[in-house]
Amino acid sequence: MSLTGRTVLLIIPGGIAAYKALELVRLLKREGGRVRAVLTEAGAQFVTPLSLQALTEEKVYTDLFSLTDESEMGHIQLSRAADLLVVAPASADILARMAAGLASDLATTLLLATDKPVLVAPAMNVRMWTHAATVANLATLKARGVSVVKPEEGPMACGEFGPGRLAELPVILEAIRAHLTPAARPLAGQHALVTSGPTHEPIDPVRYIANRSSGRQGHAIAAALAALGARVTLVSGPVTLPDPAGVAVVKVETAAQMLAACEAALPAEIAVFAAAVADWRVAEPAALKLKKAPGAEVPELHFLPNPDILATIAQRAENRPRLVVGFAAETHDLLAHAVAKRLRKGCDWIVANDVSDRSGVMGGAENEIHLVTEAGVEDWPRLPKEAVAGRLADRIAAEFSGD
Ligand code: C5P
Repeated sequence: MSLTGRTVLLIIPGGIAAYKALELVRLLKREGGRVRAVLTEAGAQFVTPLSLQALTEEKVYTDLFSLTDESEMGHIQLSRAADLLVVAPASADILARMAAGLASDLATTLLLATDKPVLVAPAMNVRMWTHAATVANLATLKARGVSVVKPEEGPMACGEFGPGRLAELPVILEAIRAHLTPAARPLAGQHALVTSGPTHEPIDPVRYIANRSSGRQGHAIAAALAALGARVTLVSGPVTLPDPAGVAVVKVETAAQMLAACEAALPAEIAVFAAAVADWRVAEPAALKLKKAPGAEVPELHFLPNPDILATIAQRAENRPRLVVGFAAETHDLLAHAVAKRLRKGCDWIVANDVSDRSGVMGGAENEIHLVTEAGVEDWPRLPKEAVAGRLADRIAAEFSGD
């Protein structure tokens, strides 16, 4: 009875595999879980509210959700009273609407309003699954922290063959269990502070100094720590990435603001400083836009050093996080610099990565890192930034469990 006391909000969109959702309800109930079902209009063409109601032993919510229902349980409450939202079988249409942030029916409204993790189990025709639009929608959803149980390959109801069949129910059940059982949330009860992105240091009201950091690695780390159950505060410089799901995001521009936001977020047990903080700021940013005039001198900028956020937090006498992790982005002599940096900054671990042009790391999708700890250096293989984040989060969880 691994799901006792846990509630799944199961959203059933239209699709030939919708009938399998009924069996999924049965399996979840057998594990002791509570299931509230939401049927989209298309879903109701494939399974009836009555069968769902009988199996869930709960009221079934549809688009006919009336004002009477609303007074009993509002949309927002319905989406937040669950521990996990599961969309199965997730059609190409609902994935597109989720990626676009539409709230065009009850199901998508709940998905947009929720503060809980979301898991989707797609099922669709093979061409729809491999279409560039679906691929892009899925990438968007994953970047936002939505978990995906990939469809399987095999003969399909439409007569074609390929990937697109709903994953086997035990696989979906296992993914749900992994989200809901305490063993999968080893960082539950821990607060993690993560910095990410570049900082912008103003020159005048319209110009600033920045760097090429995309924030991908830091955002992925925040999402990975949240997935392991940590309460995460992500202090982010200006990035174009969506906020990771289930993470509290504090948006800042300058290094000084980033330090203030980090200090305000303490206490935290874990702190990961992945932001590419500008080392210097313009001493006196102009209050008005600097104008060029014929024959006038080119402005000279004077710089002041920025506070070192990592070193400041790592060397705090009070409220120092138990584990402080810094990054070392270097273009040469990577390990020697990283080992020295760990000691100089007073942090526990350094994640060292090569950001020379040839590495393609800065702004890219992959990262090849070396983890420098007191015990030595671990060389990790080249991995997508999300996988580096997952591995780092696992490594942090192991540290906290005393492994
Ligand atoms: O000294 P360097 O910039 O190479 O150190 C990189 C590490 O220090 C990263 O973890 C970065 O987030 C952090 N850092 C910081 N504040 C600064 C400069 C760097 O937190 N002003």
